[in-house]
Amino acid sequence: MLALFIFALISLAAASPFLDVPVENRSINEIYEAALKENKTLRVAWGGDVQASGSGIRHYFENRFPGIKLDLSLDLSKYLDAEIDRQYKKTNGLDEFADVAVLQSLHDFPRWKAEGRLLPYKVSQWNDIYSKFVDEEGAYTGLYIFSFGSTVYNPTYYRDPDAIPTTYPDFLKPQFFRRIVLTYPNDDDAILFLFTLIVQKYGWGFMDSLAKQQVTWVRGTATPSILGGDNSTTNPLSISFASSSAFASGVSSKMSQDVYMAWPQTGAIFARAQAPETAKLFMNYLMDDQWQDVVGERIFATRKSFDRFGVFKQKNMDPLKYFQFMSNRTDVESWRGQFESVVGPPQGPNPNQEF
Ligand SMILES: *[C@@H]1O[C@H](CO)[C@@H](O)[C@H](O)[C@H]1NC(C)=O
Ligand SMILES: *[C@@H]1O[C@H](CO)[C@@H](O)[C@H](O)[C@H]1NC(C)=O
Ligand SMILES: *[C@@H]1O[C@H](CO)[C@@H](O)[C@H](O)[C@H]1NC(C)=O
Ligand SMILES: *[C@@H]1O[C@H](CO)[C@@H](O)[C@H](O)[C@H]1NC(C)=O
Repeated sequence: MLALFIFALISLAAASPFLDVPVENRSINEIYEAALKENKTLRVAWGGDVQASGSGIRHYFENRFPGIKLDLSLDLSKYLDAEIDRQYKKTNGLDEFADVAVLQSLHDFPRWKAEGRLLPYKVSQWNDIYSKFVDEEGAYTGLYIFSFGSTVYNPTYYRDPDAIPTTYPDFLKPQFFRRIVLTYPNDDDAILFLFTLIVQKYGWGFMDSLAKQQVTWVRGTATPSILGGDNSTTNPLSISFASSSAFASGVSSKMSQDVYMAWPQTGAIFARAQAPETAKLFMNYLMDDQWQDVVGERIFATRKSFDRFGVFKQKNMDPLKYFQFMSNRTDVESWRGQFESVVGPPQGPNPNQEF
């Protein structure tokens, strides 16, 4: 009887790769040694919308780990996840296009896990990460917190920081007529979620009022900041609430007092990774003190010891809601269609070809 029970346990363990995944206990230098020995190019699918959003990690990772070959594909998450699924089908499941995916399309990760496509792995910093941001069995990891809804503005145009909007209705004031530049909600699901929060609070009438301000809509979440930072007197654009200021010069940002959104940018290693040790090195580096200090705008983090403002303590933001939103594709499509009927289809090139 006991033997049978033990046998059942052993076969269960063989069937599921997820039981008792240990936390990485090697130092980052030991993983580096293993990655050097592996001697394979690491392919990373890196969600982002301007080239600058990939150059930082390339620079830091390659400098820290000489001899490691990194092939980082930067594109919008919604194109990378499609590319991954396409490659998976094309190769009958033998390849995934990338070894590691770091994306904002959070709904992909539980699906890929259920399809047996992810390598269970727990980075060495695992116990410092809020458990709500990780798959408890190690299939995927919330790496750092990104957020939209802060006001981004050109301080050469607005010299009084107290006059900068901190609620969405503030943007309807006359001084912002033709000044506002926003990312299309129907081109980026994180921006889409921000707009659903705004419309749920203020109604569709807010979108009508925004249209009267003659807003400029653009593709890419960095684009409003890049355009708004242009100081030339012929440039009318100077302020946004739907943009990341991380990759633009000459803009400042002010935190919202209104509803806003944030989410854990999430990463995973594919079970079919061609360079699994190098993939582990990369994941550990993303959670390493050095990269955590660079990323995350020094406000929120998935690692408790880097979460300066308390990501779960904000009264106007819940960092788990975006994942729930993304998981209901019917709801996402429905909102996207409604916003598209108001602002029109996204116009312009893929922002990673423009900037
Ligand atoms: C590290 O973890 C492995 C299993 O992944 C285990 O075999 C080994 O004993 C651990 N080493 C230490 C020093 O804890
Ligand atoms: C690593 O692989 C390349 C070919 O992919 C080979 O030319 C090189 O000698 C290898 N280096 C080591 C240290 O094995
Ligand atoms: C605009 O001018 C400010 C102040 O003179 C400067 O800091 C900023 O870098 C300029 N922006 C750009 C995009 O050159
Ligand atoms: C998904 O969203 C739709 C539309 O808002 C809703 O009717 C449905 O109940 C949601 N499904 C789940 C599983 O929450």
